[in-house]
Amino acid sequence: MRGQFITFEGGEGAGKTTQAELLAKSLNNAGIETLLTREPGGTFGAEAIRDLVLSGTSDRWSGLTELLLMYAARLDHVEKLIRPALERGVWVISDRFADSSMAYQGYARRLGKEQVEDVHKAVLKDFAPDLTILFDLDPIMAMKRVETRGDEISRFDAESMDFHNTLRKAFANIAADNPERIVTVDADKPIEAVNTQILAAIIQKYPDLSGRLAVNDS
Ligand code: TYD
Repeated sequence: MRGQFITFEGGEGAGKTTQAELLAKSLNNAGIETLLTREPGGTFGAEAIRDLVLSGTSDRWSGLTELLLMYAARLDHVEKLIRPALERGVWVISDRFADSSMAYQGYARRLGKEQVEDVHKAVLKDFAPDLTILFDLDPIMAMKRVETRGDEISRFDAESMDFHNTLRKAFANIAADNPERIVTVDADKPIEAVNTQILAAIIQKYPDLSGRLAVNDS
């Protein structure tokens, strides 16, 4: 049977990466072979594009160039890693996917919904996640997390608070447009509480997993 494709989306500092690792562990422990990956990146070629797109000043690329770079990376990722894994029956969790292009390039960088949808169709046809978990968090809380993590500030983290507020609204709109695919979790909670919300969403979508998914320590 084909594997399931699950994506994690949201603004910066929402805790997606930690939660993606926890979910991958829970699924693997439940006997489901699971692959954890991320965007932009995930394959050798896509990681090289990631370096190009995430470094430098925020005006390094136009919005459209940025969108095309994201989709060049995404096509490599889907063709070489995601689709073959799903066909082998492996479940794939990606830390970000196409909704990030819609939120960042479509809304925040103002390319518009239609242009992003057109590029998606041209590159990936109707390929889409089976389930998307959206991490919703006030950008002020998120920036505090990014600061305390001591992460290197990427080109995107350095954007203004307005940009991050726009992004939050963008993701909320995308979730409203795709209610059957996207489940929003309240990310302004301790790690365990967010993990519980995610496992509940997984069980709601895959009732057969009820009783098989255990909470893990990070
Ligand atoms: P990353 O350090 O992985 O951020 P995070 O931990 O918040 O996921 O950097 C990825 C950045 O790339 C992030 O700012 C969002 C941005 N991005 C886009 O603008 N468009 C896209 O299509 C994708 C996948 C990411």
